[in-house]
Amino acid sequence: MVASKTVNETKEKLSDLGQEHVFNFYSKLSEAEQKTFLEQVQSIDLNELKTQVDRLVLGNEKEADFNWDALKPADYISLPENGGDSALWEKAKSLGESVIKEGRVAAFTVAGGQGTRLGYDGPKGTFVVTPLSQKSLFEVFANKITRASERYGVAIPWFIMTSAINHKTTIEAFEANNYFGMPKESLFFFSQALFPAVDLNGKILLEEKGKVVMTPNGHGGSLRALVDSGATEKMRKEGIDVLSYFQVDNPLVSCIDPAFIGFHVLNQSELSSKMIPKAYPLEKVGIFCQYEGNNLVVEYSDMPKAMQELLDENGEIVFRSGSVAIHLFDRDFIERVGSASSADKLPYHKAVKKIPFINGSGEYKSPKELNGVKFEMFVFDALSKANNTVIIEGLRNDNFSPVKNADGIDSPKSCQKDQLNQAIRWLNAADVELDISPEGNKTKDFSFEINYRFAMDEEDFINQWNNLKNKPTIELGTIIE
Ligand code: UD1
Repeated sequence: MVASKTVNETKEKLSDLGQEHVFNFYSKLSEAEQKTFLEQVQSIDLNELKTQVDRLVLGNEKEADFNWDALKPADYISLPENGGDSALWEKAKSLGESVIKEGRVAAFTVAGGQGTRLGYDGPKGTFVVTPLSQKSLFEVFANKITRASERYGVAIPWFIMTSAINHKTTIEAFEANNYFGMPKESLFFFSQALFPAVDLNGKILLEEKGKVVMTPNGHGGSLRALVDSGATEKMRKEGIDVLSYFQVDNPLVSCIDPAFIGFHVLNQSELSSKMIPKAYPLEKVGIFCQYEGNNLVVEYSDMPKAMQELLDENGEIVFRSGSVAIHLFDRDFIERVGSASSADKLPYHKAVKKIPFINGSGEYKSPKELNGVKFEMFVFDALSKANNTVIIEGLRNDNFSPVKNADGIDSPKSCQKDQLNQAIRWLNAADVELDISPEGNKTKDFSFEINYRFAMDEEDFINQWNNLKNKPTIELGTIIE
């Protein structure tokens, strides 16, 4: 039985914070349920919750005024084809390659989100994205990392952040697929923390009579989770100091990018990011900006529309640097920002959502209207806390085609089209002329694939292709591997 002192203390604490309703059904729970419930409630940082409720839900704390006039576009290093210094890119690439060969780089995927928009049930990483071979997002990343390991003669570890909602199913998916060909010891799974959800008056929501609604605390929670899980300690022991960060929804990402890594190391950067010029002014991506001397990302939903649409004298979008959630983190920086005692903690943001809950009479409700608030930290808020940040330009078709929606923009279909465009471009770069064009009708029902286990990027593809003894004919259904 749970000691009544513990129960009373917990009740009192909740009551002091105006959250006594959390105990409404306590007496109706079985002993085992009471125990689990108390453990859950005690694991919540109630003071932090009060701070966030006051700040973000009740609006009791005044936010510092943001001076939009002082916001400037962030500086970035352009690609050589867009005016960048090609000798510098070569230097960065060869430095990056040495750093990879020295075993200093690991890959890192944030996969703790709920992925509700896609309407897919299961860990998003298990969603199938390749048109012919029917590989999942996880398998695509595993192929790219395996190829990079092979190319550079070093086992590149892969850290994967899950959350309580998908930790078990994620590991099961890897086990069932023989770790997608990666050595088991190269994989490190860990869960991010959860944070309570509240109603629009800041009251904690219950999922069951003996269970608080807890949701993943945002990809910004990855920094703390990397420290708490022992991932950074493992990195230290293995001599890894560069963590290549990407989201689970983006199969076009270059998981291990030598030039990007080179720029990061060359500049002794604590946090580097890749930008992609926005495809159109109102594209729904975060935007790299400069504010009071620091780089930062402003979410598209926060930036005034007129600013997003502002054009310069050449007709180019002024705030053009789209953030596609591709970063490189320095290990010591993760430890500084992610440690429990950090003075540089990331701020929480709120997301107003429809959250199923148990009402005061104990009935389950699945609301049709927005009724609750989730709290999330954003990893890009770490930018303003980092020294020597670097932003480099990336080619969209080699970096970004996320699967977020069931149809239309950023959907499985648009992503498959982008994979095909990339394959055509890589073949053209290897001097293979194809009698098809990505936009032309001939691709309507046409598809072929390059297995990323065969080549991880365009340069790699050219070499691999040139070394192929029996080159396949590219036709409907060809998989180059
Ligand atoms: C995000 C970025 C946006 C960027 C875009 C690029 C935010 C707020 N916005 O938008 O700036 O331009 O991606 O595609 O992030 N995740 C966790 N734990 C969580 C929440 C999310 O691991 O608690 C992971 C997800 O599994 C996913 C990634 O973070 O891999 C992105 O999450 P999502 O909420 O879908 O971001 P977007 O709104 O698409």
